[in-house]
Amino acid sequence: MSTLDILLIPDQRLKQVAAPITSVDTSVRKLLDDMLETMYAAPGIGLAAPQVGSLIRAVTIDLARENEPKAPLFLINPRIVWSSEERSTYQEGCLSIPDYYEDVERPARVRVEYQDRTGEEQELVAEGLLATCIQHEIDHLNGILFIDHISRLKRERVWKKFVKRAKFEAGE
Ligand code: NI
Repeated sequence: MSTLDILLIPDQRLKQVAAPITSVDTSVRKLLDDMLETMYAAPGIGLAAPQVGSLIRAVTIDLARENEPKAPLFLINPRIVWSSEERSTYQEGCLSIPDYYEDVERPARVRVEYQDRTGEEQELVAEGLLATCIQHEIDHLNGILFIDHISRLKRERVWKKFVKRAKFEAGE
């Protein structure tokens, strides 16, 4: 396994719709393993393939706390087939927008269909932080960032900050 570079905004790859995975083969599994290692190293609780520059529909999640055994979840081609009317708010962050956090309101519970690491069809009902995390990661597969759910003023402010930072790092 190896760690991958995580793209930061304003990288335009983060705004693109990722392609479905037609076959869960060794290259997909290798990407999932590398994503997991990258996510643990960051550290983060969720990572979507576009964040490491692969525009395909793959997600890794692990909500286990530091003192708990690792509990990785691999979602391939995940789709939300039901979401609750009830909503909940969590303070979200994103490895592609480091050190920025905002409250985001989303459906409190979701039912998700996906394929697992072996390509088997699976389904899960999620609530709490897992529900939020799954929605955040599936958004990534559709080119949507959590800042797209906050006020335009706040979004433009954080976007500009990262544009400046990217220019500075490119030596412009
Ligand atoms: Ni994110």
